[in-house]
This record gives sequence, C-alpha cells and structure tokens, in this order.
Amino acid sequence: MLRGDEGPGVQKAMEIVAALGRIYGAANLVPVASVQIAGVSYKNLGDAGVEFLRAWAQRGARVRVPAMLNPMGMEADRWQEMGISPDFARPQLEVVRAFTQMGVTPTLSCTPYLLAYAPHAGDHLAWAESSAVIFANAVLAARSNREGGPSALAAAIAGRTARYGLHLDEGRRGTHWVEVRCPVRGVPDFGALGYLVGKGISAGVPYFTDLAGQLPPLSEDVSFGGEAGDSLKTMGAAMAAYGNIALYHIAEYTPEAKDAGAALAPPSGAPRLVIDSLDTAYAVMDRDTDVRRIDLVSIGCPHASYNELAQIAEYLDGKRVKTDLWVTTARLTRERAAAAGLVARIEGAGGHVVADTCTIVAPIQTLGVRTMATNAAKTACYAPSHSKVAVRYGSLARCLDAALTGEWR
Ligand code: F3S
Repeated sequence: MLRGDEGPGVQKAMEIVAALGRIYGAANLVPVASVQIAGVSYKNLGDAGVEFLRAWAQRGARVRVPAMLNPMGMEADRWQEMGISPDFARPQLEVVRAFTQMGVTPTLSCTPYLLAYAPHAGDHLAWAESSAVIFANAVLAARSNREGGPSALAAAIAGRTARYGLHLDEGRRGTHWVEVRCPVRGVPDFGALGYLVGKGISAGVPYFTDLAGQLPPLSEDVSFGGEAGDSLKTMGAAMAAYGNIALYHIAEYTPEAKDAGAALAPPSGAPRLVIDSLDTAYAVMDRDTDVRRIDLVSIGCPHASYNELAQIAEYLDGKRVKTDLWVTTARLTRERAAAAGLVARIEGAGGHVVADTCTIVAPIQTLGVRTMATNAAKTACYAPSHSKVAVRYGSLARCLDAALTGEWR
C-alpha cells in the first residue's frame, strides 16, 4: 500500500497511518472493525476541506471496513425547510458525495453505538468523534484512540491504524483517582460532573472509585439508550469536550473495570480529584444568567436516544411549543421513533425532530438564533464560541418548559 501498488488514494491513506505510527512510536498496525469520521460539516471544513476530500475521492480510494460519518451542517433532504441557504447546502452535499464515493456510509450521527454499529468488547476501532470514542472505550470496552478527520478516513481506506495509546493494555490503566462525594442525579448533573473531571484532569484515564452506587444497572443493550446509557453519554461527551479524555473507568460498574478489578486502578500514589459539589460546573455552563427569552431549545447532544425521544414526546403530549425546539438525533433512531409514533407526537406539539445534524455543526447563527437552552454539557461548551449564542443549561424538564413558554424559568 505504501509503495503505491494499490493506487495513489490508498498510498496517501497508508502514508498518514504510517506517519502517525512513527510519531506515536507504534510497534505495528492493528486491523480495525469500524471507523467513524468527524469533520463533516461544511461550516468547519470550508472550501479547502471540500477540495481535499474531492481530490482524495478522485484518486480512486475506497474504504475496506465499515465506515460512518459524524453529523453534517444540515438535514440531507429538509435543508430548505430549516432555512439553510443553497450556498451552504451545495458544498455540504458535495462533501457527503465525496465520502460516499469512497464507500463511507452516510450515517451522519455522533452516536453510532446507538445504531446498528455498536462495537463489541475488545474491538479495535478508529473513531474520531470524541463523545463516541469515550463511550465506545468506557461503556462498551472497545479500543479506539481519538482520531482526527483525515486519520480516521486514512484508517478506513487502509483497514488498520497504528497500535498505540488506548489500543494497548498499558494505555488503558487509570491515571487519576476520582472520588465523588455529592449526589449526581439526572443527565445535566452527569454533564456537570463530566465538566469537572475534564477540567480537573485535562488528560489521562480517570478512575471513579464510588460512582457505581449513583447509577442504575448498565443494560447490555445500549441501542435504545436508557437512564444509565443517557447519563454516561452526556458525562463522557462533557469530559471529552472540556478535557482531552477518551476513556474512564467506574469501579465495579463499567465492563473493563468489572472484569479487571484492581488491575486497571491507578497506582496508589496517583493524583486524586475529589468532587464534593457540582456548583462550579453549573456556574460555568449555565453562564448567561441574565438571559430569559429563549430563541431555540436544543436537545440531543450527543444525538438523542430512542429513550430520550420517548421522554420528550410524553412531556409534550397535549401541549404546544412557543419557541423553536430542535431534538437532534440519528436518522435511524428517528425512523425507530417514527414507527412508534413518537416523532408525530413531538412534531404535533410544534417541535422538530432533526436528523443528520446538530445545533453546533449547523450554521444556526445565520438562522437568527441568539439565545439557546440545552440540557447538554457539550452544547453548553461549544455553542457560545461555535455558534455565537448565549446559553442556559439545565434539566430536560426545564428546557422543555422553556420551549413551551419561550422563557427560562
Ligand atoms: Fe454530536 Fe453535535 Fe454534540 S456532533 S456530540 S450533537 S456537538
């Protein structure tokens, strides 16, 4: 491949994989079970990114393992309805075309583990979306480093990635003890905890000593979400957004920590982070406290699970929203929810169940949005800088109340 025997597109892919291997001192490569590629929105790629992908596709490269895409900047077939301009839509569709030409499946979701693509324990992956990488590593015991956009695509074309970091047993051992001494209840609290750990540790593998008691049992089937899965989805996304963290363990709870016992615990002298209040996290994420009027309520970061869609449908039954409500989710999750009547119930109340995108990668500032309410810590992290909006952060019920009244109460 490196010699170019399989053509220039494959050669380029292997050059990237080999270069990363050299930089990180990998002894060899490891075949990957699947790849997930981030950096899909035209908002982030710009014209140079579109050109780069088009050129790579024209060199005849094809992926050789299942490969999926992160959300793009709009819904594929309802972008006009969303108010997206053709100047954005045209290059955005071209990006997806270049990826599909190379054999990538346009899942356009950051939660491939909720779809038909959940990895198995021990699978080696080359995933790029930070919230998906940490879920796959911590909750599903798969093995992935946090890939960049081009390196994930290169791994998909080469079918393998450099074996270093979280692919190795020694890279998966805890590096920091984390003690949680305050109650953690519901999704926004877990987001707040993820913020504090991400900020407090910044890089490494946190090992929670006593969090298991605050979580319901972890179901084997994560594909529909659920209280534990939804909380961990949010906590991991926050940890990865506010810190460079791609794996954590919860003693006696997450699968690897359960199997390996003390072998994955940090050395006894490792740094210890003690969390006795979530207040500072709320003060940072619910930052624009003078904002009362809400233009857009954003739920579904990472993309909403079936379970979350069911909760929203139940809350909205018989009611009518006053402000814009976007529930962003994977197309496949939306199909499942539509079949059960959940989408009709949410949209009947005036909300939108939006697939393929999210309020961070869509150009929402061009849609006149200035204030946003969310229950997602990662959205609270990125929305002010990426989308230039003021943010209120709180529970799902509080966000839905804002959708019904137009006010943060
Ligand atoms: Fe997913 Fe967008 Fe959040 S890609 S993790 S919904 S910022």
